[in-house]
Amino acid sequence: MRLPERQLAVLEAASATDERTIDEIAAETGLKPETVTGAAFDLRDEGLLSVVETAAETLGLTDEGRRYVDDALPETRLYRAGLALDADEAAVSMGRVIGEAGLDGPEVDIALSNFARKGFGTIDSGELTVDPDADPDADPEAAALAALADGDDPAVDEAVLDQLDSRGLVDRGESVTRAVTLTDDGVDALMTAVETTETVSQVTPELLASGEWRDVEFSEYNVEADAPTTRGGRKHVLRRTADRVKDVLVGMGFQEMEGPHADSDFWINDCLFMPQDHPARTHWDRFALDVPPMEGIPDELMARVEAAHRDGWGEDGDGYHSPWSQEFAREVALRGHTTSLSMRYLSGIAGAELEPPQRYFSVEKVYRNDTLDPTHLLEFFQIEGWVMAEDLSVRDLMGTFEEFYRQFGITDIRFKPHYNPYTEPSFELFGEHPETGEEIEIGNSGVFREEVTGPLGVDCDVMAWGLALERLAMLTTGAEDIRDLHGTLADIEFLRDAEVSY
Ligand code: PHE
Repeated sequence: MRLPERQLAVLEAASATDERTIDEIAAETGLKPETVTGAAFDLRDEGLLSVVETAAETLGLTDEGRRYVDDALPETRLYRAGLALDADEAAVSMGRVIGEAGLDGPEVDIALSNFARKGFGTIDSGELTVDPDADPDADPEAAALAALADGDDPAVDEAVLDQLDSRGLVDRGESVTRAVTLTDDGVDALMTAVETTETVSQVTPELLASGEWRDVEFSEYNVEADAPTTRGGRKHVLRRTADRVKDVLVGMGFQEMEGPHADSDFWINDCLFMPQDHPARTHWDRFALDVPPMEGIPDELMARVEAAHRDGWGEDGDGYHSPWSQEFAREVALRGHTTSLSMRYLSGIAGAELEPPQRYFSVEKVYRNDTLDPTHLLEFFQIEGWVMAEDLSVRDLMGTFEEFYRQFGITDIRFKPHYNPYTEPSFELFGEHPETGEEIEIGNSGVFREEVTGPLGVDCDVMAWGLALERLAMLTTGAEDIRDLHGTLADIEFLRDAEVSY
């Protein structure tokens, strides 16, 4: 059975002890006594409660009775006035005594009749005599009035009460006390009601509009309950790393380069003095695209690059003397490095002719026909960069990297001599993986050869590099497998939880 909330509250309060009065229940539940009474009768009608009524007499003073408590009963005042006028020795005129007593109106008759009744004295032919032995202070009627005024329950003689009642000085009434007790059905009903009370966890517009909210039980908040983890969107750790890289490089005075992902082989390889028969230029090693050749390579530049390949550049230069064709140079491939962008910018075709000093960078995607493994992806981001200035040394290169990696908390990079067809000297960079302790390659660098800078029209030093963004992220996040970071095998949990300090 589903009980209305008030009935349930009354039933519950009533169950606390064997017998409870309506007033006790009202005090406990905070409901008005009338409300509790109504609910108790409803419950009685349902057979869930028994209600025992006990009538008790109530006794209170009327206004007149209260006035006599303050001013003394009229007959007492008459007696005292009589005494004051020596009416115990001689009869004194009534008028004088009444005047002395300050009695007025109906009080005069009241005083006279009760004076005689109580034996305070005698009244004869308009003269009053007081009985010196009478004692109004011991008057039981006055004592009863005083006790009632004090709120005591006076153990008063019935006859005295009747007297006061007939004089209209007290109010006699009857009050009914109702004590309630649960019946066996009531106990059962309470148990099932407590068990089945539906709790509501949310106020809805319907509950409010229907007024039903008054009768439903709201569930309490459990602030210690387990809650599902809610995750908001977050920037991919690789994107965060890329953004930080850009900030750091811009902070170091670099400007950003941009350019095509699919580019002419000319920019990707020929400008870099990579012989056209170099193994890295076979279709096995790169993603070639079946698209028409790109235009826009300046003829003189093409001629100078071809000359460098065929015969070398500078006084001591000797070319490759290997096959070279403009058609091959114009073919389009997905760039395997972003050094193609460096070539475009150094040549001046990407903007104005550049005068030293200059610093440029990009953080862009490159594509390689590698074999996927824990440190290799087919697509990854390269942090390309170069500095054009007079008299650059290997110290400048190392100092630049040390400063750059320090921004990511990496202070132990190692340099190893290396070979690139386009730089001399060349260095590979290594960092120590924070989890495995293994050395992993994080970049490749060097100072561009004259065969590269010469045909581009640059006649000062250019130091340059390509660093792997994902490898940097492996060092900062502790990812042990590069495939966790991006691509189809990315580890979503890892990416959600990965913490980096930048
Ligand atoms: N292109 C090189 C690579 O992809 C990086 C590099 C750029 C090295 C410029 C030297 C100079 O590994």
